[in-house]
Amino acid sequence: MYFADHRLRRLFQPTGPVIESLVAPGDSCLDIGCGMGYFTIPLAHLVGPTGRVTGVDLQPKMLEGAARRARREGLADRVGLRLVTDADWAAPDRYDVILAMWMLHEVPDQKDFLVTLRKTLRANGRFLLVEPRLHVRERQWQDSLDLARTTGFAICTPRRLRYSRAAILQ
Ligand SMILES: C[S@@+](CC[C@H](N)C(=O)[O-])C[C@H]1O[C@@H](n2cnc3c(N)ncnc32)[C@H](O)[C@@H]1O
Repeated sequence: MYFADHRLRRLFQPTGPVIESLVAPGDSCLDIGCGMGYFTIPLAHLVGPTGRVTGVDLQPKMLEGAARRARREGLADRVGLRLVTDADWAAPDRYDVILAMWMLHEVPDQKDFLVTLRKTLRANGRFLLVEPRLHVRERQWQDSLDLARTTGFAICTPRRLRYSRAAILQ
């Protein structure tokens, strides 16, 4: 998992093409499965001083790394970090943008998880779901999209992102 903190990643997966068209200043964002904040920190730059980003992960060590980065870049006031085991990790907040980057395939109960995300997304919100091509085959990806539909998401736009299968759900 520490690959996520590798400088080389910026070369093969720059953050701009993934998130820039998704986020506006003042937005409230959820980076679910945020890891060490590879996208959390750029999201915090994009939302600006009036926006907020919440990073959620299973692993305290990942969140510590993300918190360090937020402090280092002077963004701690707009970045909140939560362990997914906190009962209130998803509530009462509602988000304009949710990013689930290369993490859904790690979730054992995808349906339950997608239902929770559906409830936390604002009416006009955008949910960018991205899975790694290497680990997630086309069939598995389509199953996840079908599941998302049954939990109330409408598939809006497939996104073309390198090394990934991706869609924006609303
Ligand atoms: C492959 S890493 C991707 C991290 C980050 N999104 C990135 O792109 O750098 C997947 C992350 O999802 C987290 N994760 C897995 N299942 C999760 C869940 N149910 N809730 C929150 N985080 C989860 C893992 O702990 C891990 O940090």
